[in-house]
Amino acid sequence: LLNSNVKKDLIGKRLLITAGPTIEPIDPIRYITNPSTGKMGYEIAKAGILRGADVMLISGPTNLAKPYGVKLIRVDTAIQMYNAVMDNISNADIVVCAAAVADYRPEKKEKNKIKKMDEDLCIKLIRNPDILYEIGKEKGKKILVGFAAETENLIENAKSKIIKKNLDLIVANDILQEGAGFNKDTNIVQIIDRNFNVKKYSIMSKAEVAHVILDEIKKII
Ligand code: CTP
Ligand code: CA
Repeated sequence: LLNSNVKKDLIGKRLLITAGPTIEPIDPIRYITNPSTGKMGYEIAKAGILRGADVMLISGPTNLAKPYGVKLIRVDTAIQMYNAVMDNISNADIVVCAAAVADYRPEKKEKNKIKKMDEDLCIKLIRNPDILYEIGKEKGKKILVGFAAETENLIENAKSKIIKKNLDLIVANDILQEGAGFNKDTNIVQIIDRNFNVKKYSIMSKAEVAHVILDEIKKII
């Protein structure tokens, strides 16, 4: 995808993206997380810049460099991501939530390292805010795009997320499929709109998937 081949069709559009995992501390040296690398969200950010958008990326911990031209806010936890999103949402035209946000966090972070005991250890987990759901409640004129990473009932689960979170589009992928999901350079996605039209794509690089998602957003604009 050469810069010169890309149409600058998002000039003046403000695009806010969440990406990467969140980490939820248990004690000073331990945490709960997931294998998200952030690649999908960072590729959407890069594609947005190439197409002329004003891009803000709110990212959990990743090994990825700040994409050129993007405003990057780095966070660790779901609550920090939620706060960063809410501080920056008001003038966004398009919001894409690609982050793999932890659904739960330990009820409290222990001040000191938990020492090993003879008994088993029980850590109580409490619900994190659902960032995308909260954005969907006050959607206004924004275009709202979510992801659904599933291991079963892909289309059915993705459709119910469209309704529950008030989305314009959802990018569904079966994470157990070869060539899809976490920690890969490729993805196999289906994009579903508010009217439940399903578009099925074959395997693509995450950079290509990013442009396909922006194409679908552009059609709605
Ligand atoms: N999401 C979010 N905040 C959360 C959880 C999820 O913003 N606390 C967003 C993700 O970024 C994604 C979409 O919601 O765009 C769907 O995430 P997913 O984990 O598939 O759905 P959940 O609603 O959390 O449901 P479940 O994990 O039970 O499938
Ligand atoms: Ca979840």
